[in-house]
Amino acid sequence: MAKPKDLIMFRSVLVAAALLLVALKEEAHGLSLNYYDHKCPGAEAAVTAAVRQAMAKDSTVPAGLLRLHFHDCFVRGCDASVLLDSTGNVTAEKDGPPNVSLHSFFVIDNAKQAVEALCPGVVSCADILAFAARDAVALSGGPSWVVPVGRRDGRVSLVSETSTLPGPRASFEQLKQAFHARGLSTKDLVVLSGGHTLGFAHCSSFQDRIHINNNGGPQQVDPALNPSFAASLRRACPANNTVRAAGSGLDATSTAFDNTYYRMLQAGRGLLSSDEALLTHPKTRAFVALYAASQEAFFRAFAKSMLRMSGLNGGNEVRANCRRVN
Ligand code: HEM
Repeated sequence: MAKPKDLIMFRSVLVAAALLLVALKEEAHGLSLNYYDHKCPGAEAAVTAAVRQAMAKDSTVPAGLLRLHFHDCFVRGCDASVLLDSTGNVTAEKDGPPNVSLHSFFVIDNAKQAVEALCPGVVSCADILAFAARDAVALSGGPSWVVPVGRRDGRVSLVSETSTLPGPRASFEQLKQAFHARGLSTKDLVVLSGGHTLGFAHCSSFQDRIHINNNGGPQQVDPALNPSFAASLRRACPANNTVRAAGSGLDATSTAFDNTYYRMLQAGRGLLSSDEALLTHPKTRAFVALYAASQEAFFRAFAKSMLRMSGLNGGNEVRANCRRVN
């Protein structure tokens, strides 16, 4: 009979083979696994060092980087359009309502500076962001994966296009649509929402769930919320809240990449309406149950879905400065 160690080894080989298959498929999208092997062999390590250094000083950095990559890929593909600064006559994506709480741009600036010192003009900002998001997850205790590279940076970033990003009040149908429109599946929706295992939401993102006006009667809360969880959110975010930084962790272990998000969701402790929406359909509810029961299954699925999302192609140049077009 096979020993448990052999089984674990066998499973790891299977996971690696599955991820390699997904990665090989990415090559069909114009990305490649060895694009920088000769052109800039030190690039990936330089990005990892920049992420490591930043998160040692600021534990919110991994969440910031993961969300940056998501918001980049969902508008014009993963082309670093989210990194461009507004100019005199064009307001850029980063200044749009869903993006004003994005942060950790400085980590990408530092990584780009380090990479440019090694091999100027070779490594795109979009690839740096894809590496950094992977590192953010892995260095927070989550899975790791090989990032196919060769993305190009875009020259266009328009605030108007941020309205296509799914919002915290999106219904299941709207979420599904937002993912399908980008070639991602309903399963990807559930899996990538697991990114909410990291990070924080401001009160404004869930205020309407905990202070529901009741025609002059006592204010109510969303009945889907666990009552003691709702009470703690109301303490953190009172109706007359004026503290801009107030809010709550998206799960109870918001600096650890784990499957707590799904277990909280099942317990009525999902923070955003869009999280809760994953329980409203039998198919997505079953995925939530699967990942709540098995962190291993979640990690495997997350790596695959991230490869799919970060394969959405965009731009056409390698920027010298991630904040400006060449
Ligand atoms: C499914 C649709 C999604 C919606 C509606 C959504 C919405 C939100 C909202 C409203 C916040 C809080 C913003 C704030 O109040 O500051 C947030 C935070 C976050 N989201 Fe999502 N999100 C979605 C999917 C994703 C995906 C796919 C990922 C990554 C794979 C992700 C990663 C994050 C992270 C890491 C944070 C915490 C950011 C931080 O602490 O700075 N989200 N999201």
